Amino acid sequence: MLVKRLLSVLVVTGFVQLAHADTAVTISSPNNNIQLSVYHRTNGSLQYAVTYKGKSVINPSGLGMKLANPQLALMQFDLSAVDSAAADESWKPVWGEQSSIRNHYKQLLLKLSDRSGSGIRIEIVFRVFDDGVGFRYIFPQQAKLNHFILAEELTQFGVTGDHNAFWIPGDYDTNEYAYYTSPLSEIDASGGGLAREISTRTFFDKNAVQTPLMMKSAEGLYINLHEAALVNYPAMNLVLDKSTYTFNTHLVPDAVGNKAYLQAPFSTPWRTIIVSDKATEILASKMILNLNEPSKVPDASEWVKPQKMVGVWWEMHVGKSSWDYSGGQVGSQQASRVPHGATTANVKRYIDFAAGNGIQGVLVEGWNTGWEDWFGQWKEDVFDFVTAYPDFDVNELQQYAAAKGVQLIMHHETSGSATNYERWMDTAYRFMNRHGYAAVKTGYVGRIIPRGEHHDGQWMIRHYERVAAKTAQYHIMLDAHEPVRPTGLQRTYPNWLACEAARGNEFNAWSVGNRPDHETILPFTRLMGGPMDYTPGIFKIKMSTYNPEKKEQVHTTLCKQLALYVTLYSPLQMAADLPENYEARMDAFRFIKEVAVDWDDSKILEAEPGDYVIIARKAKGKNDWFLGAITDENARTFTESLSFLDADKKYVATVYRDADSAHWQNNPEAYRIEKFIVDNKTTLKLKLAAGGGTAVSLMPANAEELKQYKKYKK
Ligand code: NOJ
Ligand code: CA
Repeated sequence: MLVKRLLSVLVVTGFVQLAHADTAVTISSPNNNIQLSVYHRTNGSLQYAVTYKGKSVINPSGLGMKLANPQLALMQFDLSAVDSAAADESWKPVWGEQSSIRNHYKQLLLKLSDRSGSGIRIEIVFRVFDDGVGFRYIFPQQAKLNHFILAEELTQFGVTGDHNAFWIPGDYDTNEYAYYTSPLSEIDASGGGLAREISTRTFFDKNAVQTPLMMKSAEGLYINLHEAALVNYPAMNLVLDKSTYTFNTHLVPDAVGNKAYLQAPFSTPWRTIIVSDKATEILASKMILNLNEPSKVPDASEWVKPQKMVGVWWEMHVGKSSWDYSGGQVGSQQASRVPHGATTANVKRYIDFAAGNGIQGVLVEGWNTGWEDWFGQWKEDVFDFVTAYPDFDVNELQQYAAAKGVQLIMHHETSGSATNYERWMDTAYRFMNRHGYAAVKTGYVGRIIPRGEHHDGQWMIRHYERVAAKTAQYHIMLDAHEPVRPTGLQRTYPNWLACEAARGNEFNAWSVGNRPDHETILPFTRLMGGPMDYTPGIFKIKMSTYNPEKKEQVHTTLCKQLALYVTLYSPLQMAADLPENYEARMDAFRFIKEVAVDWDDSKILEAEPGDYVIIARKAKGKNDWFLGAITDENARTFTESLSFLDADKKYVATVYRDADSAHWQNNPEAYRIEKFIVDNKTTLKLKLAAGGGTAVSLMPANAEELKQYKKYKK
């Protein structure tokens, strides 16, 4: 690590004396755009403030901790030392949006002790990057007591006005909400509108929201609040005080109402403030990854493989088959029975399709006993993760998949019973190893056991990390559904490929669905913490395909589904629709076949939360580029320069675009595919239908293609 000590130990006198004997210290980001100031008031309280290019981002805001044991508030401090440092290094993720990441920051460390006489020592470390600020509390080894029970963290984020915000209600257990877009003053998380679909709402405060919280100020600043490295600590909700536009931290409690149990030495997660005057720079930020610990899985690059998958999955969500052996349909109004999905014959059909199309993984849900009685029961022992239904032949499928060069992905639905899963984990992962399964999709639907614990509380945060660590031991890749929202831990556990932790495409199959702007908001919110298993690629947009009475539909055009493979980054991407729906449109499916899932480089070309996102990415180790452009409910036209292409090459651009008559609601499946020769001087015109998108592959042209296709003309 290339940490340069700037001023090895700068003692308290390094603080500037302010009026009324307050003191302050300020550090700037490496490019000087961001300034962080920390104020130590005469009464001992501490505040921090952030500016971007001279404009205030965070007004002076409070820092501190309220303890339940010993019972006291750590809010007034004596400051014993201030230590500065800086780093400029690069590191290579096992997989990612780019093959090398620069970690460049200046750091300030405050050494403090409780002024009330408890003797408790605490440190606060700030890192200022060009793209934002992160800070965390540290409880170093103490002279006396080393065990603390936390009642609340007192961190505040005071923003400067009534910003426009992209938010979902504060909730201890789920993130599967449609986003609200409103000024901060109009935040009302009381559960109206789309939030009402969530029946297991477990926390309610009218002014409480989750992170990542995206805001845009009237001055045009984009501000994202979240956290990094959420380990052994509860997730942070934010409660807005509308009289001052100050967010107060509200940590998710445990079953007895405490927030966290801390054993010194201990560090909290980083609180993150990402800021820019360009929306594209918010999406390009790697600050959250930089604030996470390096990989704890030393051999990960040997066995962790970014990949695409198909699965016995969407057919259950659209009501064509069931998880349950007897054909009962969970959550469906239909009384009639449907066939069991995870049969040996049906899985073979998916294996064949995957093998024929270069798809590495086949997910199978509903393969194990327990699905008759799994939902909403709050029962501890539902699944055992090793007993297959009689029509699912584990050994036969193991051989069949291996012969076809495909890997099966196992599903472990815990129905929220984490205690049961903990008891079974080793047995289940050994079973997976024996039967050739390289990846697991976990799920935590419903209320958590231990009863009274929450999906986002400290107990479950530790559980998710245990699962990541244990799957790593068994060389198993992990995709977690219904976990806490990610905070960059995929750097530390590269086998943890993706999470759901937001409202995925599945909602389009059986609910009012996701509005056309949903996927333009996700990159600025949920995806700030890490990859999402959104399950794109639905070609049959209207659910009336499966049942004429169904009104549900996907709220995008078919081409937008293609573009999502680029705009919603994940090293694990599902081709979520049914093989027969792809077989009917192999020309469009070609994009899904070809699109990469691991990248050397990513260029965020255009972006505005709630409106549009355009990203181009270069496939890892190849000269192929893929571009995805998506819009909300409005049709839009863009002119994109392809200047990111190599100057000395010609490329075949295959453009998958909405037909001129396409529209997400009335005509969603109309598309055109066109091929042109382009180079780095080309500007491509992209015409996106309402709720639409464009996907483009750009691959070096051979001599024959140069003759065959015309040069692109606007
Ligand atoms: C919810 C998950 O998000 C979905 O992918 C899964 O099929 C169901 N739970 C059943 O486990
Ligand atoms: Ca919009």
